[in-house]
Amino acid sequence: MSAERATQIMPAGDAATAAAARVLRQRGLVAFPTETVYGLGADAENGEAVARLYEAKGRPSFNPLIAHVLDAAAARRLARFDAAAERLAAQFWPGPLTLVLPKAPNCAVAELATAGLDTIAVRVPSHGVAREILAAFGGPIVAPSANRSGHVSPTTAAHVSGDLKGRVDLIIDGGPAPMGLESTIVACVDDPVLLRPGALAREAIDRVVSLKAGTAAPAADDDDAVIAPGRLASHYAPRAQLRLDASSVHPDETLLAFGAERIADADRAVLTLNLSARGDLIEAAANFFSHLRRLDACGAATIAVMPIPHVGLGEAINDRLRRAAAPR
Ligand code: TXA
Ligand code: MG
Repeated sequence: MSAERATQIMPAGDAATAAAARVLRQRGLVAFPTETVYGLGADAENGEAVARLYEAKGRPSFNPLIAHVLDAAAARRLARFDAAAERLAAQFWPGPLTLVLPKAPNCAVAELATAGLDTIAVRVPSHGVAREILAAFGGPIVAPSANRSGHVSPTTAAHVSGDLKGRVDLIIDGGPAPMGLESTIVACVDDPVLLRPGALAREAIDRVVSLKAGTAAPAADDDDAVIAPGRLASHYAPRAQLRLDASSVHPDETLLAFGAERIADADRAVLTLNLSARGDLIEAAANFFSHLRRLDACGAATIAVMPIPHVGLGEAINDRLRRAAAPR
């Protein structure tokens, strides 16, 4: 789907940091080392940059991403911290701990990056190169592990290049990732719960807050599986019914449109939002969750959804539409 990109590989340093900030501002993709594994970064506040990131990873569904920031103060602008989260942040940031927290009311991170959830994963990395990029860019950076879907997380620039060359703009080589294991993920939404074991040991966390027993381990065959801890697992689901592959609009329906075509009785729609009038799937992905929310909020019983081509990011959009349309 995406055009082949010329991938530049640069050794870490001032020139690479400046190039990274420039690429991120232009909605591009930059792979960089963190203390855990290499991440593939995009501007967290830009839906199209985030859509490109999903496309580069080649994953047919949208997983929520971790927002990387420089410090706890920046994280508090994105997420609501309870007492346990404050203690964990004070003890372990910067470092290999990711916190899943309720989204802050004015959270500027693109809806697509959190896959429409009301929670957000935030992390303050300690790696010098990651921190320099965050400082130069000046905003939150979403970064999943810099591997293609289904592959293991990369710990060197060569691993990243093997997976993503031609699909990202810039790879920064800062040597092997020191820990070589992804961050530990703890949710502080209700009682603190370990979502993913990782580079920070459970015992260390347990000395600071008491973790609820058990772990929701991701599927062993997929390092990017959505973690499924009870109600955190549930995908974003609209209250309205969804009617997929609509070729006309019925009474009391809103319309989620795609492309330039006008379907029958389109003017009957209570409200119409177009994912991409020019039929661009990257733009459509960037708009997907926020459009769905806005249509749902206007109160009509059903959202009619025009067909979305099942190619590129269309596969991930259709995956989410089918889940949202499933009987509950
Ligand atoms: O060490 C790391 O965490 C690396 C470096 C680059 O920071 N990043 C990383 O990202 O491992 P990723 O996307 O490969 O894994 C993040 C995991 C995914 O399994 C995702 O489903 C989960 O975190 N996650 C993100 N937001 C979530 C949320 N709001 N609720 C539950 N799980 C979430
Ligand atoms: Mg991963």
